[in-house]
This record gives sequence, C-alpha cells and structure tokens, in this order.
Amino acid sequence: MNGGKKVNLMKFNQLGDNRGHLVVIEGCKDIPFEIARIFYIYGSDKEVVRGQHANKDSEFVLINVSGKSKVKIYYGNSEEIIELNEPHMGVYIPKMVWKEMYDFSEDSVLLVLSNFKYNPDEYIRDYNEYLALIKD
Ligand code: TYD
Repeated sequence: MNGGKKVNLMKFNQLGDNRGHLVVIEGCKDIPFEIARIFYIYGSDKEVVRGQHANKDSEFVLINVSGKSKVKIYYGNSEEIIELNEPHMGVYIPKMVWKEMYDFSEDSVLLVLSNFKYNPDEYIRDYNEYLALIKD
C-alpha cells in the first residue's frame, strides 16, 4: 500500500538561546523526504474540517508553527488522533493515509511539507474509493 511506512510523531531540535527559538528542517535529514512543496493553512474556524483525502503519491509532514489543531488519520484498520500544539512538533504522514484536520485554534498556522508538487489527480477525495483501494 505504501511500502510499510508508518505515521510518525516527530520532535525537532529547538536551537534556542536568549533571543528565542529556531527550528531547522532539512529534507532527507530531519524528515524522510526531499521537500518539493510547502503550503500553510490558517484562518480556519473551529468547526471547519479540512483534508478529507488520501494521496497516491504525496507524503506530508504537518507542523502547527502557531496555535494548535488536531489531525485524524485512518489507515488500514487503525485510527489515530494527534494534537499538534508545539512549533517543534510534527507528524509524518505517508501516502495512502486518509487524513482530516480540524479543531483549529484561532491562531493556528498549520505548515505542511510534501515530497511532491501539487497534482490534483493523485488526491483521493472519496472515502469509499479510498477504502476500496486499500483493500486491494
Ligand atoms: P484542499 O486540498 O481542499 O485543502 P485541504 O486539504 O487543506 O482541505 O485545497 C484547497 C485549494 O487549494 C484547492 O483549490 C486546491 C488548491 N491547492 C493547490 O493549488 N495546491 C496545493 O498544493 C494544495 C494543497 C491545494
């Protein structure tokens, strides 16, 4: 399905001193892929549910660089809810994982890194189609 890769909670090093904090993320070093795409999500209300898709190619690392949100992920038979609430904390999501992001705080800025450029054709937005694909 995705080569046995697993959803993985990550803690990045905080290079802090009395001037504040700095987090570095280098492709294939701090995360398991080279970065081809960056986007960020902000201004989503508490009731909004985003995502609701799986990807045939793209892998992601999600980081709430400000505020917090929750990510519900479903793959195979397991469901997991992760709260992202620290700027040096991320979650790695391999391909073919169904994900939903919700419960955004007002100050939430959710940074997303991916190994592929945007291609709408690799997004599976129909849950039943996703279930059928992971069954095979
Ligand atoms: P969408 O995938 O619905 O966002 P989310 O998964 O956070 O709910 O994307 C919203 C819009 O942005 C949609 O019109 C597609 C566009 N988009 C891009 O053009 N490039 C991208 O890399 C992403 C993630 C979205």
